[in-house]
Amino acid sequence: MSNIPKILERAIFNIKREGLTSWFLKRAELNLKRRLFNISWILFAVHEFWISILYGKTGDYFVFNISDSLRDRLISFFLEQEFANYKDWGSDEENLLMFNSLSYETRSRVDKNVKIWNFNSKNLLFTKLQEELSVKIKSFVKSPFCFVNVRAWKTLPNSELFGPNTLHTDGFYPGHLKVMLYLTPLSKESGALQVGQELIIDKPAGTAVIFKNSDVIHSGIPGKSEERISIEITIFRSFIYQFQFHNGHYDGRHYKSVFTPYLKCLRII
Ligand SMILES: [Fe+2]
Repeated sequence: MSNIPKILERAIFNIKREGLTSWFLKRAELNLKRRLFNISWILFAVHEFWISILYGKTGDYFVFNISDSLRDRLISFFLEQEFANYKDWGSDEENLLMFNSLSYETRSRVDKNVKIWNFNSKNLLFTKLQEELSVKIKSFVKSPFCFVNVRAWKTLPNSELFGPNTLHTDGFYPGHLKVMLYLTPLSKESGALQVGQELIIDKPAGTAVIFKNSDVIHSGIPGKSEERISIEITIFRSFIYQFQFHNGHYDGRHYKSVFTPYLKCLRII
C-alpha cells in the first residue's frame, strides 16, 4: 500500500509536465504500438479470447497450501542447491522462453537483495510439485493449462524496495498466471505478499497464491528479520495439459510463441 502514493506521485508529476491530454495520448499510443505491432502478443490474445469463451475467465487470485510432505521435500532440496550470481547469468538464445532483459547494474542490485538458485527443475520432485499444484489450482484456472517456467530465490530481510518489491504488474502476454509458493512462513518477520488490496500474511510455510500477475497489482514484502524463500511457477491457460518439458530459467517469462506447447505435444519440437 505504501507504494501507491509513489505511483500516483509519479503520474501526477508527468501529467503536470506534459499536460493531461498529451500524457494520456502518449500512454495510449505506447500501449497500442506495443500490442498492435506485435504479432506474438496478438496470437496470445486471440488464444486467450477463445479459452475464455470456452472455459470462462479466472478470478483475480486464490490462496491455498501444498502438503506438508511436499513442502518439506522442497525445503530439503533447496538446502542442497547452490546460489547463482545473477549479474553473471547469461540468457540462452536458443531458449523457447521470452526473457527479462535487465541491465548489469540492475542485476547487481538484485544480487544484493536476493539469492537466486540455479537448479535443475527436470526431476521427480518438480514433477510431484506440478502434479499437486494441478489438483489444487484446477478449479481456479478453469481451462487446461501448461507449466512454462519455474524459478526460486531467497529474499534477504530488510532488502531494498525496488523492482518486484514495489507494486507492479508483470506485463506478460495474455493467458498467463503465476503461482507464488512460499517455503517460509508469511509473517512480518519473514516477509509477505500483497495482491491487489490484500496483504497475504500470517500464513504457514507451504502457503501458495495463484494470481493474474499481469492484471492484478502486486508486490513482494521483504521480512524484517528473516529470509523469505519463494518458488515462482508460471502457468499458461491452454487447450491441453502439459508439464514443463525444459529447465526453468531465472530470466524466463513465458513462451515466445503461443504454439510452443502444441508443437511439443505433436512432437514437432
Ligand atoms: Fe511480479
